[in-house]
Amino acid sequence: MYAPIGVFDSGYGGLTILKQIRRMMPEYDYIYLGDNARTPYGSRSFEVVYEFTRQAVGKLFSMGCPLVILACNTASAKALRTIQQNDLQRWGEARRVLGIIRPTVESIGQVSRTRHVGILATEGTILSQSYPLEIEKLYPDVVVTGQSCPLWVPLVENGEADSMGADYFVKKYMDGLLERDPQIDTIILGCTHYPLLLEKIKKYTPEGIRILSQGEYVATSLQDYLYRHPEMDERCSKKATCCFYTTESVQKFMDSATLFLQEKVDVRHTVLG
Ligand code: DGL
Repeated sequence: MYAPIGVFDSGYGGLTILKQIRRMMPEYDYIYLGDNARTPYGSRSFEVVYEFTRQAVGKLFSMGCPLVILACNTASAKALRTIQQNDLQRWGEARRVLGIIRPTVESIGQVSRTRHVGILATEGTILSQSYPLEIEKLYPDVVVTGQSCPLWVPLVENGEADSMGADYFVKKYMDGLLERDPQIDTIILGCTHYPLLLEKIKKYTPEGIRILSQGEYVATSLQDYLYRHPEMDERCSKKATCCFYTTESVQKFMDSATLFLQEKVDVRHTVLG
């Protein structure tokens, strides 16, 4: 039986999530699908992100995945709920799609002392209000300030994360966030690409502010989900394989994936839509 866990992202960013998931649960099989030909999703409309994400989830199900993780905040913000409500039934009751916003939000409860939290994310994720809405449900006392960082994903995707240009744009958005709420003591990196800018982000973050990357929280939450759902866990195959699909050029994906994973990967091309 080959029934891998599907991990989907608009591009390379989800690799930061996959890396943590594999570190915590190396025995499972995984398929990573990056829609690199149509990335970025961050500035696209609700309808387009939903349609692209629906196609990707359908593809991963057709490849045999019983469970798909939307390892993309924009897709989790704009498409997860609609897919769960409208599409899952058609694909079969036993399939599941999980997002990464809820597990990230759960983590802030114990962390923030001032109860002032900042979110750095794409324009789409910020405009969707998904983070403040989820935080409100779990921690109504927390004040949330969002800052969209539209140039961070292009910087990472173009291999410019360590450049001087990146310094300028990291400082610009960090200052923008902290000027709007100087009481923030916890910042969520609400975009899967941002861990690649972590060193620069830390450089422009005043001492005492905690920065939360999502990968670890998402991995812990997935592990917990499979523990609580043994019927799903039994359906996931465990031969410790991982294969990668991209909608763009295989060579391009291979070169860039190394930046994110620090390992060589086996990549195939696929078409969505
Ligand atoms: N992976 C996306 C996210 O986490 C960012 C990249 C994009 O805009 O497509 O929001």
